[in-house]
Amino acid sequence: MSKITFTDIGQSYDKSPNQDTWALKPISMTLETGKSYALVGPSGCGKTTILNIISGIVTPFQGSVSFDDVDITKLPTAKRNVALVFQFPTIYKSMTVEENLAFPLVCRKWEAAKIKSRVGEIAEQIGISHKLNRSANKLGADEKQLISLGRGLVRDDVTALLMDEPLTVIDPQLKFELRKKIKQIIAGKDITVVYVTHDQYEAMTFADELLVMSLGKLVQRGTPEDLFERPNSKYVGNFIGSPAMNFFKAEVVDGFAKIGDYTLAVSADLKKQSDRYLEFGIRPEHIEVHDGTGENIITADFYSHDDLGSTRILNCRFGGEIIKVKVARSFQIPEHGRINIKLPKKNLLAYREGLQVL
Ligand SMILES: Nc1ncnc2c1ncn2[C@@H]1O[C@H](COP(=O)(O)OP(=O)(O)O)[C@@H](O)[C@H]1O
Ligand SMILES: [Mg+2]
Repeated sequence: MSKITFTDIGQSYDKSPNQDTWALKPISMTLETGKSYALVGPSGCGKTTILNIISGIVTPFQGSVSFDDVDITKLPTAKRNVALVFQFPTIYKSMTVEENLAFPLVCRKWEAAKIKSRVGEIAEQIGISHKLNRSANKLGADEKQLISLGRGLVRDDVTALLMDEPLTVIDPQLKFELRKKIKQIIAGKDITVVYVTHDQYEAMTFADELLVMSLGKLVQRGTPEDLFERPNSKYVGNFIGSPAMNFFKAEVVDGFAKIGDYTLAVSADLKKQSDRYLEFGIRPEHIEVHDGTGENIITADFYSHDDLGSTRILNCRFGGEIIKVKVARSFQIPEHGRINIKLPKKNLLAYREGLQVL
């Protein structure tokens, strides 16, 4: 259980001096003890690289890593006291399920009776008690992943628990259950957890804090609410949320966003802006369908809708842009044609060159 600090860490696998090509651009950050973090972003953005630098599998090209302010950059993985769950699990095929789960504890020289009881407990929690005596060789891909997860969770004295897309091969229903179980198993323990996923829902439902990455860079970190309510870039607005945030271009006039005949109040202070045009973003969830007129109510053209089961998306056109509005299932879908929608000031965010203007 440690605080993990990155100081100016950068990784280039081919030792290139050109930072633009680095798998991980220089980053300084702290992950607090006892909190769970999700590293999220598309494939190739550097998530596994960060995890491997924490575990010691990769020695960074530059910078230092510390656990509780002790520099461990050069310390081998075996001495870092971290538990790892890999994306592609390695299972000891010649061992039984029980022996596989016990392995980290045997290595730590736990007493046999304590091992038996702890392995029994974990097996129960992840639902494989009835398979303890099976040979690991005979297991399916998802069961192997379960064992790997169990091995990661079996020790309770680790500095950090690092999981790299641990549920990728697990079927969706079991995935949901397992995520809940992992949360229960680590709840109340003082372990720093780093969980890698490319799935925003998995990240949001699992972690206290998300670290959103793009092209080797940490773009934004925050709670699910921060990322949903205040995406600091168009990238995060698009990556987090489904459907993605709506964006449109508008002229800046006297601190307002002017588009067609409408003058919209926005959350940012645009008085100091020198740009004539900026982009504006609003989440589909924040737009309200309205009867009347008033501040930030516009008339758009509603032309189709998508049924998402629990919610519906109204697809509208406004000033040449598509605006999506998320409504409750119970919402009475109107006729196609003109529709009045409100873009609340506090939710209408401004962006310049892809970055939020405050
Ligand atoms: N061992 C390696 N040697 C060379 N390039 C690598 C190596 N590992 C990863 N990369 C490259 O570094 C980038 C980041 O990879 P990775 O950290 O695995 O991303 P993610 O886990 O987000 O998919 C990718 O462009 C990948 O091809
Ligand atoms: Mg990866």
